[in-house]
Amino acid sequence: MFQTKITAMFGIKYPLVVGTMMHLAKAEMVAAASNAGALGILASAMFPTKEDFREEVRKVKNLTDRPFAVNLNLFPAMRPVDNREYLDVIFEEGVKIVETSGHKAPEELAREVKGHGLTLVHKCVGVRYALKAQAIGADAVTVVGYENGGATGTLDVTTLCLVPRVVDALQVPVIGGGGVTDGRGFLALLALGAQGVILGTAVLVAEECPLHPKVKQAIMEATEVDTMIIMRTIQNSHRVWTNDAARKVAELEKQQAGLMEIVRMAGGDKAKRMYQEGDLEAGTISCGQGIGLVKKVMPMKDIIEGIVSQATDLRQKLAVM
Ligand SMILES: Cc1cc2nc3c(=O)[nH]c(=O)nc-3n(C[C@H](O)[C@H](O)[C@H](O)COP(=O)(O)O)c2cc1C
Repeated sequence: MFQTKITAMFGIKYPLVVGTMMHLAKAEMVAAASNAGALGILASAMFPTKEDFREEVRKVKNLTDRPFAVNLNLFPAMRPVDNREYLDVIFEEGVKIVETSGHKAPEELAREVKGHGLTLVHKCVGVRYALKAQAIGADAVTVVGYENGGATGTLDVTTLCLVPRVVDALQVPVIGGGGVTDGRGFLALLALGAQGVILGTAVLVAEECPLHPKVKQAIMEATEVDTMIIMRTIQNSHRVWTNDAARKVAELEKQQAGLMEIVRMAGGDKAKRMYQEGDLEAGTISCGQGIGLVKKVMPMKDIIEGIVSQATDLRQKLAVM
């Protein structure tokens, strides 16, 4: 059932990846995704020290014996991260899969990761970036279209058009995403040639996602027109849920504010306050246009199995059309 090159490469049950999420993809969420048969990805950049990160990796290992990955962040951040420190922990703790995401294909990191025999996945938003990732040794490439939650880049190509283009251009397997929240989107991306599908917005309402119930409620009440792109003026375009904080960022951009002023408003501690205390206007939260289809808080296992079972039924129906 949906066995692909990605299920074989990662050793997972379903060709589903639960995308990394700053301040949210901690041990509980990552392990829940992996235990549900998908690949969970721990976000390393949220841990201030090497030892904090090591503790979280160990927590994941205690919560699941299934494969999981660690993300190394290459996006601009308030607190610059030294990915080499995280890499040391990754090697020492025996993590087997590394995902990188950000503006530049990480040649040096790729050499290190591949040199240690790990599986490398790079996430990006365009054909030329995907080709570059393949050239530097990525075993698989994730591409997300314009509708996705989080970084959108500047090319603005939708998932429907981007995924088959990248599938045709690459030899390595492609994981597609951006806007997938249910079995229909999942099956559609497999039909486009993706060997795996990444989810983000769909799992914001997972029971295991450490988001305040008020934020989950706001997400469930939102529709597909309630997201906007911010931070384009500082070459860090992100699709987020439209709230006061996002509008303030847009206003700062109109006034041609500098990088730090914008990043301070858009991320970091303000976002953490929103996530933990449920102050809906405190910060911004990445969200894709799929938000309009996210309607119920459920255990991660039910979200993942629901997607697979809906896709299984749909595949049968399509076969007799
Ligand atoms: C709240 C949130 C935070 C995210 N944080 C990150 C991140 O720190 N790094 C990253 O590479 N992707 C991040 N993403 C993107 C996801 O990993 C995934 O690629 C994306 O959500 C898939 O698109 P979808 O939301 O339309 O399903 C984030 C997404 C969301 C919704």
